[in-house]
Amino acid sequence: MRTKMVAGNWKMNKNLQEGVALATELKQAVKDPKCAVVIGTPFIHLATVAQLLQDSPIKVAAENCADHEKGAYTGEVSAEMVRSTGAEYVILGHSERRQYYAESYDTLAEKVRLALANGLKVIFCIGEVKEEREAGKQNEVVKAQLEGSVFSLTAEEWKNITLAYEPVWAIGTGLTATPEQAQEIHAYIRTLVAQKYGKEAAEDTTILYGGSCNEKNAAELFACPDIDGGLIGGAALVAEKFLAIIAAR
Ligand code: 13P
Repeated sequence: MRTKMVAGNWKMNKNLQEGVALATELKQAVKDPKCAVVIGTPFIHLATVAQLLQDSPIKVAAENCADHEKGAYTGEVSAEMVRSTGAEYVILGHSERRQYYAESYDTLAEKVRLALANGLKVIFCIGEVKEEREAGKQNEVVKAQLEGSVFSLTAEEWKNITLAYEPVWAIGTGLTATPEQAQEIHAYIRTLVAQKYGKEAAEDTTILYGGSCNEKNAAELFACPDIDGGLIGGAALVAEKFLAIIAAR
């Protein structure tokens, strides 16, 4: 049975004190979840939050890491540094990183490689923009994103990859993919993984849905056979909402 997961992506929200307050509230409420629970926080929060959640089932993720091992890259944070905070995951390939920071397939492939080499698990995001969906190109887009950055991994490395399908038109827009739309492409993504790594690996791969997933629509999305959980933005910033989504999984 593959891992079911609800992961939060705080993005560039919450100062340190606010982040600690939210993590504390989540820690008190999440004792024995039915699924894996991960929170992605800004770099600056990682060490404190990871320490706070040491004896909690909640795991911590960075939202990015550098595409270089170490050295003269002012302002960058390496995968090794992330791991040293106690964080176990890193979110890579988010559409906001692709769009605003011009992260290419090759850059992402290198970040994934370094993350895995440093013992991090990767939540790798893929998804099409509105024009691509309207042109019916969503399948070719996610295929190219997988082939461009993660399908060069070995079968052993693949075990540490969680995929997140996040249609860009649904992120922060309140416009959620319908369960049918999401299920259809999740099933397609699983077929691609099966072609590359075999049926068993595909069955074991966790594929999250992200994009205006909230406490109201989560249960319906999670009921789909190929949707293994969610990667949550806005609704992960409010404990009550995030907890309701975890309960829906
Ligand atoms: P929203 O849930 O705010 O739409 O964001 C989704 C997302 O980008 C998670 O990575």
